[in-house]
Amino acid sequence: MSGGIDNKVVVITGASSGLGEATARHLAAQGAIVVLGARRADRIEALAEELTAAGHTARAVPTDVTDRDKVRRLVDTAVEEFGRVDVMLNNAGLMPLAPLERLKLDEWDQMIDVNIKGVLYGVAAALPHMKEQRSGHIINVSSVYGHVVDPGATVYCATKFAVRALSEGLRREVKPYNIRTTVISPGAVSTELLEHIGEKDIQAETKEFVSKIAVGADTFARMVAFAVNEPDDVDVNEILFRPTAQPV
Ligand SMILES: NC(=O)c1ccc[n+]([C@@H]2O[C@H](COP(=O)([O-])OP(=O)(O)OC[C@H]3O[C@@H](n4cnc5c(N)ncnc54)[C@H](OP(=O)(O)O)[C@@H]3O)[C@@H](O)[C@H]2O)c1
Repeated sequence: MSGGIDNKVVVITGASSGLGEATARHLAAQGAIVVLGARRADRIEALAEELTAAGHTARAVPTDVTDRDKVRRLVDTAVEEFGRVDVMLNNAGLMPLAPLERLKLDEWDQMIDVNIKGVLYGVAAALPHMKEQRSGHIINVSSVYGHVVDPGATVYCATKFAVRALSEGLRREVKPYNIRTTVISPGAVSTELLEHIGEKDIQAETKEFVSKIAVGADTFARMVAFAVNEPDDVDVNEILFRPTAQPV
């Protein structure tokens, strides 16, 4: 398949809000077939209906990325219905910030399960199809916090550093199969991410800082579109962007 976006089959995890939802809308508007995964079935089903009513092609497959069988079913559904998977966007993630000393062990587990293992399950679900196709594009979502470590964000940073490490290993391993890999590291983007910070004092101070500088989720969607749209012989491996006003 040559570069471009039109008619590509794009699977998106975390498509029920924020970056994933914006990307689904942006790519569908450019002719992509989008297959949407997230736990909130009502959200992705409404989005799929809306996109379909607008003349695009979209499917919703309720998916918890901590369940490897569900992630495999998400990708297999795309292949069964549309014949292939061209792009796998491993975007689902969460950021319940708290200093280590607060010992939020359940949140540590959750971040490791969703932000790291969820990405690995996405890779595992897409890779066999892409190897067989001898084409495909796996896009993983890291963060500025995959490049710098802030106190209070230690475990989240660790998960996003891990996403960069596994993306680089993936890049080097899939060259024989003509598969492209991209890791995107966003800075502050206005989404629902901060709603899931359990520690209310930290949530309030993070919201105050982020609300002053965050850019819209369409910014991320444009980065994805750029990487996908490049010709097949161009592999955009890394994108790091921040709001112009973001110092860290
Ligand atoms: N916003 C930013 O400033 C920013 C910056 C850097 C990186 N990021 C990264 O961008 C990605 C998207 O986050 P966002 O900012 O768009 O936040 P968001 O609006 O909260 O979206 C997070 C998405 O992840 C999904 N998700 C969470 N747990 C899941 C699970 N177990 N299984 C399946 N889906 C799950 C959510 O869907 P359900 O709840 O419906 O399952 C939701 O669609 C994350 O990886 C985040 O770390 C965001």
